[in-house]
Amino acid sequence: MSGRIIRFGVIGCGLMGREFASAAARWCHLTGVDFEPRITAVCDANPEAARWFVDRLPTVEHAYTDYKELLADDNVDAVYCAVPHHLHEGLYVDIIRAGKHLLGEKPFGIDRKANVAIQDAIRANPGVLVRSSSEFPFFPGAQQIVRWVNEERFGRIIEVNAGFWHSSDLDPNKPINWKRRLASNGEYGCMGDLGLHVLHLPLRFGWKPLNVRALLSKIVPERPDGKGGMAACETWDNASLACEAAAGSQRFPMHLSMKRIAPGHANTWFIRIEGTKFSAEFSTKNPKQVLYMPYEPGGEQAWRAVDVPCRSAYETITGGIFEFGFSDSILQMWAAFCDEIAGNEPAFRCATPDEAEGSHRLFTAALESQRTGGTAAVEWEE
Ligand SMILES: NC(=O)c1ccc[n+]([C@@H]2O[C@H](COP(=O)([O-])OP(=O)(O)OC[C@H]3O[C@@H](n4cnc5c(N)ncnc54)[C@H](O)[C@@H]3O)[C@@H](O)[C@H]2O)c1
Repeated sequence: MSGRIIRFGVIGCGLMGREFASAAARWCHLTGVDFEPRITAVCDANPEAARWFVDRLPTVEHAYTDYKELLADDNVDAVYCAVPHHLHEGLYVDIIRAGKHLLGEKPFGIDRKANVAIQDAIRANPGVLVRSSSEFPFFPGAQQIVRWVNEERFGRIIEVNAGFWHSSDLDPNKPINWKRRLASNGEYGCMGDLGLHVLHLPLRFGWKPLNVRALLSKIVPERPDGKGGMAACETWDNASLACEAAAGSQRFPMHLSMKRIAPGHANTWFIRIEGTKFSAEFSTKNPKQVLYMPYEPGGEQAWRAVDVPCRSAYETITGGIFEFGFSDSILQMWAAFCDEIAGNEPAFRCATPDEAEGSHRLFTAALESQRTGGTAAVEWEE
């Protein structure tokens, strides 16, 4: 490839850091792009995690244990940062102030205060491109739903249901990790962990939750601590948020759910939109399939199921009949971020800091609703 090389540093060489390494390593999968990420530096507080990169990626020139050293590295144009939530504020603010473009992991701060500090740093450094990771809207089925919304097919919106459900925490023997602890994952619990995935499309469509009635639950009280004992699980496992949403002059119910414990759901992300003229649904449970139902007054109400072609925002070498998966969505998200760094209008924009901020506004209101048992307004104006 003879196009622009974007030199990346990865801070946080865990689960998601390795996904980016894999996406960068198979960039030839994409067709028609003239930019390419190159991972030149990595950083993890645990040198063993960074070693995985050094051993596999010949492009890595430096491995650091202190992220400030990576930020001082002139061979780094942009940073992917995937660290636990209590570190977002300090690291994201320093990355932005260092003038490095940032693809940060959600939720963009452990709480609303941390998110405000990150937003302030973004506003003070307008030359830095900042986006949040959120890959599921890049599935071809989700992209089909995006097209239908943009074409205003739905008529009056009756109701929206969106969610992101996991199930591995159903196993009480699963050892505790940082996502179950208040100090590292924050009071939002599963909302901070899973919520922006659920909100990315509704907020992109301009559907604002005006208020929320939240039902948050803690299901497994303690887990093995990995040292022979048990440790308390401090964070919310599941969240069901019943919102009144606004889209222009329309008002409609929007049900958003984020679940660590949804029996049988490994990584199910879905959105279902019901409208007076058209309804549609996509779920990663059936990643090839989109359900839809056009409706004319007095006509038949018959849902249709179609296998969508393997075609997402960025063209690839994969034939249209083949299946799209999680790692493909990560590759697409990276193409969109690099496309913007290269100065282009992306085929589909990664989640923006304003969308991440919108999710914080909702989660903060949801915590208030849970405390009072009532309906909490979502504050959209400062
Ligand atoms: N987009 C997605 O689908 C998705 C999936 C899982 C997690 N995430 C997000 O990714 C982020 C990280 O989650 P993960 O599952 O990869 O976690 P992880 O625990 O697998 O990895 C985090 C890494 O950060 C390192 N780290 C901790 N403190 C550090 C510091 N001060 N400097 C440098 N490195 C440090 C840890 O040693 C670890 O290797 C979180 O924000 C999480 O919400 C996103």
